[in-house]
Amino acid sequence: MRIPIIAANWKMHKDSQEAVDFVESLGEQLRADSVEAVVCPPHPLLGIIAEPCRTYGLKLGAQNMYWEEAGAFTGEVSPLLLKDIGVHYVIVGHSERRQLFGETDQHVARKAKAAFAHDLTPIICVGETQQERQSGQTMSVISEQVTVALTGLDPSQARKAVIAYEPVWAIGSGQAATGTDAAQVAQHIRKVLGEMFSLKLARDVRIQYGGSVKPDNIQEFMREPEIDGALVGGASLDADLFAGIVHNA
Ligand code: G3P
Repeated sequence: MRIPIIAANWKMHKDSQEAVDFVESLGEQLRADSVEAVVCPPHPLLGIIAEPCRTYGLKLGAQNMYWEEAGAFTGEVSPLLLKDIGVHYVIVGHSERRQLFGETDQHVARKAKAAFAHDLTPIICVGETQQERQSGQTMSVISEQVTVALTGLDPSQARKAVIAYEPVWAIGSGQAATGTDAAQVAQHIRKVLGEMFSLKLARDVRIQYGGSVKPDNIQEFMREPEIDGALVGGASLDADLFAGIVHNA
């Protein structure tokens, strides 16, 4: 039984007051929902919203982290620190990290491993570019990203991973994938997981869709049995819109 998971990726938006207001408003609106809702603010806001998130039963997620526990890594944030302030989830391998900050599949793998080593659950992002889709490479790109990211994980860890399928061309473009296309990729991800681990594990892993998700298109994805939730960017900045997505999921 896979519990649906809807995560808000605020990217580099909001200040401390806006963050607290959002959590209080969302928390009030979601009291009866059976969906797991995760809020991923910029790092400096994690500690600020940790307590209100706890109060409302919302999960806290980070947008990135480094794989080392401590050391001379200026500007980086360790899994130990995230755990210490009450973080549950950490997004790794978002396409913006890959494209703007040179993150590779190997980096993603190290981060996923470090997350599990510190009792954090990685939300591992994968997705093809427009060019890759047009040249028919979608499935091979996804296979490579998933395989490298999860290699070396113990099955007991891999089973808990969340994989977010975010086609790069759908992010922030207003042009979401169709539910059918997203489900095909999700099915392919399960096939890869089945080959790497087991069919049982492939069925247990939660797969999100991300890319221009809104309250009025979330159902198109959630009605697909392969898809277990969404990773939301733009529409997660407004508590009412994000609550609408969670309700409609
Ligand atoms: O991680 C979520 C994201 O990349 C999708 O962004 O704005 O298209 O919902 P958006």
